[in-house]
Amino acid sequence: MFLGMDVGTGGTRAVLVNEQGQLIASASSEHAPFRVDHPGWAEQDPEDWWRAAQEAIRAVLALASGARVESAGSPARVRAGVQALALTGQMHGAVMLDKDGHVLRPSLIWCDTRTQPQCDWLHAQFGPGEEGRRKLIDLTANPALPNFTLTKLLWVREHEPETFARIAHILCPKDYVRYRLTGAYAMDVQEASGTLLLDVAHRRWSSEVATAAGIPESWLPQLFESPEICAKISPEAAQLTGLSAGTPVAAGAGDQGAGAVGMGILDPGSVSATIGTSGVVFAATAAPTKDPHGRLHTFCHAVPGRWHVMGVTQAAGLSLRWLRETLAPGQSYDDLADAAARISAGSDGLLWTPYLLGERTPHLDGDATAAFVGITSTTTLAHFTRAVLEGVAYSLKDTFTLFAELGIPVKGVRLGGGGARGPLWREIQANIYGYPCERLTAEEGGAFGAALMAGVGAGSWPDLEAACAAGITVAETIQPEAHSVARYIQGYAGYRRIYPALKGIRG
Ligand code: XUL
Repeated sequence: MFLGMDVGTGGTRAVLVNEQGQLIASASSEHAPFRVDHPGWAEQDPEDWWRAAQEAIRAVLALASGARVESAGSPARVRAGVQALALTGQMHGAVMLDKDGHVLRPSLIWCDTRTQPQCDWLHAQFGPGEEGRRKLIDLTANPALPNFTLTKLLWVREHEPETFARIAHILCPKDYVRYRLTGAYAMDVQEASGTLLLDVAHRRWSSEVATAAGIPESWLPQLFESPEICAKISPEAAQLTGLSAGTPVAAGAGDQGAGAVGMGILDPGSVSATIGTSGVVFAATAAPTKDPHGRLHTFCHAVPGRWHVMGVTQAAGLSLRWLRETLAPGQSYDDLADAAARISAGSDGLLWTPYLLGERTPHLDGDATAAFVGITSTTTLAHFTRAVLEGVAYSLKDTFTLFAELGIPVKGVRLGGGGARGPLWREIQANIYGYPCERLTAEEGGAFGAALMAGVGAGSWPDLEAACAAGITVAETIQPEAHSVARYIQGYAGYRRIYPALKGIRG
């Protein structure tokens, strides 16, 4: 069996997958909520991830030993049966370690947006105004965004110089858990793409960016392709987790890369639209396709020799949760969706822009705010709900619009996350994107994708294509329906006018 681990924001999940690509068992352990000491700040304690990882591994091994599945068996057999593991997790977080590998301060995580001044400073190191931004995009395929790791290190240098002076190693969240499991400082190129220190086109650290930013290259971990074995479980970690010492660990990938592998998004032209807390439209590409304006992220894919682009909606599933908590406390998501399904496509003219947490794609505007537009005396809660589902899909459609602009092919779309779970949101997405959308029989997220990488690393499958062919099946294809598609083309035109019209308006 292969163990996949997802060090997420809310918790860590561990899954066991067998050689047929089937999920045998899954267990999770929650993290303490991230600390928000000031608006826009988000910090977590790396030790808490390590605690949760140990709990999740012990729990999944115990569960599999009790599961009535032939390939599981007794605890000893389960332990011996784990041939390899791989990690995935929340991307971009900066974990700073001293020369002895001790954590120096809490990690500034992906959704911490305090570093706009450091982004501006970094661009200025490469030239005045737009020129500096373009040069950084040339070097790393991406502009500086507050979400990215390097900008967080620059903030620590400016505000906590004593801490900065003691840094000897930097890692991302899942790589810290790997360090605790194995003692190795390692990172995969997909994750490294989100640090802003990687030469994404050549899949190696960028000396030019490290030098310009003042980051010693000795701090950077060794780089690997995602399915490569990069370390082994240490005897101490074996004691703590129940794994066998010496179990090989593959490099893995950030949650978006591993999630895409778990959905079979490997070949150029294959695209996923995943709605979790945030929403991501992800396309595999044959080459590093850069957006000269930096509105899409261009990263190395977890598939060796491939790249990916993705657009991120900050508050996707979060929009629906916000709606339920503020306007419909106590109602279930199913009841809300049933009522929304009775409203016709287009929500009788009501529109929602989901910028509850600012926005990444396409606006790159941390100060953007959300809005309902088109409220009348006949607007009901069901309209608000449907407008939120539609508005989130319009926001993801913005990424498809950029794909078209940049000539990125879309051969098919697979839906993932909470947005794929109910029929209404699936239909809305197919009609708004205007592509047939596939739903998978079981979508197990990034941890499953990581387990497939472990299987490839261990040699059970020759490559990720073979692993995905074993483990992934399509349950249903949702065809766009002409009448709704036409209605949504009109709705999208209205949606696109809201952001520029409202920009800067505050009470
Ligand atoms: C990707 C991103 C999120 C985080 C948290 O760019 O910011 O997917 O990895 O899940």
